[in-house]
Amino acid sequence: MSLAEATLRAPDASAGAVSAPSAHLRFDADFVRDPYPHYAALREAGPIHWTDALFNGAWVVTRHADVDAVLRDPGLSAQRTAGWVKRVDGGDRRSQAELRAFQHLFSRAMIFLDAPDHTRVRTVLGAGFHPARIRAQAPRVAEIVAARIAALGQRPRFDFMAEFARPVPSLVTCMLLGVDAADRQDFIAWSDDLAAFMSAPWPTLDQARAAQRSLLALKRYFDALLSARRKAPGEDLVSLLLAAEAEGLFRSDAELVAQCAMLLLAGHETTRNLLGNGLHALLDHPEQWKALIDDPALVPGAVRELLRYDSPVQYTGRRVIADSLVCGQRVRRGELVIALIGSANRDPDRYTDPDRLDIRRREPTHLSFGRGAHVCIGAGLALMQAEIAFASLLEHLPTLMLAGRAQQNGNAALRGLAALPVMQAQA
Ligand code: HEM
Repeated sequence: MSLAEATLRAPDASAGAVSAPSAHLRFDADFVRDPYPHYAALREAGPIHWTDALFNGAWVVTRHADVDAVLRDPGLSAQRTAGWVKRVDGGDRRSQAELRAFQHLFSRAMIFLDAPDHTRVRTVLGAGFHPARIRAQAPRVAEIVAARIAALGQRPRFDFMAEFARPVPSLVTCMLLGVDAADRQDFIAWSDDLAAFMSAPWPTLDQARAAQRSLLALKRYFDALLSARRKAPGEDLVSLLLAAEAEGLFRSDAELVAQCAMLLLAGHETTRNLLGNGLHALLDHPEQWKALIDDPALVPGAVRELLRYDSPVQYTGRRVIADSLVCGQRVRRGELVIALIGSANRDPDRYTDPDRLDIRRREPTHLSFGRGAHVCIGAGLALMQAEIAFASLLEHLPTLMLAGRAQQNGNAALRGLAALPVMQAQA
């Protein structure tokens, strides 16, 4: 079934779910362009809706309090990769068998594990993301940002995504992992392939094959890097993971490689979209950009508001472990529940005038880093990068303005821009 043909299944009336107008759950191009009016209609219509338009069918949870509860619910599992190879558009038994290597490897990534495996792996990675360790990277992040800004110099027009939002987080992620920055183009391409497959509601066979090829390329790369670091350990995260492996904290090399691939993907794809969506929102609201120039102390609060206003991660999923109730709706074992983070962040029950960008907002924080056991382990690093990046842009390129239409990346889950043309006044 194609995305366009996807329909809504009438929810089980006896269980009390509320049906949604089908137009609001299509996840098509119109939805991806501006999901927020659709989210508003969904929240209004009810807390939970069934759709066939996502991942072979899923329950979609729309309101802030419920999204928060779903993400904390120990009755829901993070293991959700099992259906991946089955939902490929145009796939058959042979392609399912072909793609199993991909599924086996990636399903070991921490983001898809439950306790006790999740707790074990998270404890190991947690050491690498300790706040003091992240703070110590600030000068190097500032150097990376300064070098990009210097390269932009007085260029009157440029694409912010190509020249800044893509390179900065990928260089920072390479630095964190101890990957040679010269290999970063390969990494960006591999991770783009993975992101496109994982977040597509109905991935094509070509997308699935590209993701598998890229994951295997990543595995080969990390296998080589791991063997080099075994001989000569460094200060990087890969060396830290190897020390944990030596203590028996990883079950296999594959488990270790899966964490590296996940970090690469989770680390730069999302931060890129925070920088791109964030700058777009600020330049679209020049009075807020001006307020930040006048008072740079507002930057940390502004970054949190930008995360709320246009979250780089719009939703994540969980599997039902046993028949139960979610938002009063009976859900069955094995069904998928989607927590609509982008909708929760605009819930009027939680935020005053939620569709307004307000860098001085003092309300409870967004759900853009998730909640509960799987809350983003890289949040501190992402915030630090974004604060350094926006502060430097405001200081050195204060005359930035939009220079045409932004081009979206077309991804409903990892919401971001493919291109953001900007210009600046000449000195
Ligand atoms: C603006 C940037 C970022 C956003 C919006 C973001 C968002 C998220 C969200 C929503 C989750 C929870 C997923 C779930 O519950 O299923 C998550 C988890 C995760 N994030 Fe981030 N993230 C960002 C940056 C980063 C960075 C920089 C890294 C690492 C370098 C990172 C690594 C991870 C990892 C490893 C997890 C899984 C945690 C676990 O399963 O315990 N993220 N992120």
